[in-house]
Amino acid sequence: MAERFDRIWQNARLATVRGDLAGLGVIEHGVIAARDGRIAFAGSRPDFPSDADATERIDCAGRWITPGLIDCHTHLVFGGNRAHEFELRLQGASYEEIALAGGGIVSTVAATRASSEADLIAGALPRLDALIGEGVTTVEIKSGYGLNTETEMRQLSAARAVGRKRSVSIRTTFLGAHALPPEADGDKDRYIELVCREMLPAVAQAGVADAVDAFMEGIAFSSDQTARVFRAANALGLPVKLHADQLSNLGGAALAAEFSALSADHLEYTDEAGVAGMARAGTVAVLLPGAFYFIRETTKPPVELFRAHGVHMALGTDCNPGSSPLTSLLLAMNMGATLFRLNVAECLAGVTREGARALGVLGETGTLEAGKWCDLAIWNIERPAELVYRMGFNPLHSRVWRGR
Ligand code: NIG
Ligand code: FE
Repeated sequence: MAERFDRIWQNARLATVRGDLAGLGVIEHGVIAARDGRIAFAGSRPDFPSDADATERIDCAGRWITPGLIDCHTHLVFGGNRAHEFELRLQGASYEEIALAGGGIVSTVAATRASSEADLIAGALPRLDALIGEGVTTVEIKSGYGLNTETEMRQLSAARAVGRKRSVSIRTTFLGAHALPPEADGDKDRYIELVCREMLPAVAQAGVADAVDAFMEGIAFSSDQTARVFRAANALGLPVKLHADQLSNLGGAALAAEFSALSADHLEYTDEAGVAGMARAGTVAVLLPGAFYFIRETTKPPVELFRAHGVHMALGTDCNPGSSPLTSLLLAMNMGATLFRLNVAECLAGVTREGARALGVLGETGTLEAGKWCDLAIWNIERPAELVYRMGFNPLHSRVWRGR
């Protein structure tokens, strides 16, 4: 009897991004078939049963299909914006100076605390739609602009809610240790105590976070304080990630590796010991060229060392109001190439397979492989390099999330 599928995409060129780590896993005469939202077949035409039956057949007319894109690092849900700080920076103030003067993250905290869940959802949806419009099918969203239990929970709940309003997979991350709230009166240790004793258990109990993140930096938290958060997260069974070595080298990558973090992110100032630790732990390096660009950083993440040590590299937008108001993952790919010298295969893997790995969902999505969710991006391009090479142009033809 002929095998039955819900949908078949034929006459396509596939960049499966599976197998050979350095390559794109190209299949020239490709077919994808979906059943129950999952990929039932992804391969070459001659290997596909010729008598297969399907409810719908889609002729891709030679277009390229990649896995649906994954933005593995965003702060998409927040109140207000920081255009005024941008003006201050144009007059010469630095990102750190603004933060130390009481602006920066805590100004977004004030705006977020003043926002209802409905406000947060309404503010986030246009940003989410911009990502979706470029073929993104999975988005990670962090909290971290509440800095008290109630508002952190509201942010996480808004993040989950936007996922129900759109055809997209959302992964949420609790980032209570993002900055010190004004009411903490400068007492970072006491605030970390609150994060570990009250916020984290509440978040875990409500089941609203898939992972736990922290910001380890001079203007944020120390290695000791971060380790306390990580121990508390592990005790609750939650995996960790870290904003590491973004503005200085405090050993963030190494600490993340010690805790077998899913990812360490930013990494501009990471040294070779940190890179080696990440390689041993299998911690993904999430590179965020939008933040590097926007705060006019000049020290680049050690891409050569990541390659030499075999550390997997992902790319994200870091969409946030202060350091990276970026809602284009395609532009993040272009920046990854132009600013950090990633090659085309690294950029494409960085927003698919490696993004999935950084979120701990590689078994479910991120490559074109039978058994995974049928999350696809179909492109009007002649070669994959076009996804990286253009700036401000969107060649998406169509997008498929879970088979539709
Ligand atoms: O990823 N580095 C810390 N957190 C954000 C910035 C947040 C903000 O400035 O609002 C980042 O760059
Ligand atoms: Fe970030």
